[in-house]
Amino acid sequence: MLKRFSISLSKELVDKFDELIKKSKFANRSQAVRHFIKQELVALEWQEDKEVAGALTLVYDHHKRELVGQLLQLQHDFAKSIISTQHVHLDHTNCLEIIVVKDNAQKAKKLLDSLKSVKGVKHIALTAAVLDI
Ligand code: NI
Repeated sequence: MLKRFSISLSKELVDKFDELIKKSKFANRSQAVRHFIKQELVALEWQEDKEVAGALTLVYDHHKRELVGQLLQLQHDFAKSIISTQHVHLDHTNCLEIIVVKDNAQKAKKLLDSLKSVKGVKHIALTAAVLDI
């Protein structure tokens, strides 16, 4: 069921919002507001100890044996939180790995932090999602 509500903003903020909508290719204000509310709700859910899901994306040099070993060890340590992984050999040097995680937020964040602490990872990013919004 859809529910309508109105909000009051300064003209300056509305102009900036409309500019943002244009640049980000949102179809309309409602779609943009929906997007930003969901984004904030997801961030909140990840702060609490709720069931969450997400994808961790890593890029690293597979020639660094110690680094590869550490990443593998961590994935085995968190085997119950990880539901899938995908490994792509990007080029002669770089590997991209997508680790799909589903667990309570604290456990998922612990995995993210542990992977972040591995020395030599070139890129790490989290795409956070929740299951019930
Ligand atoms: Ni590879």
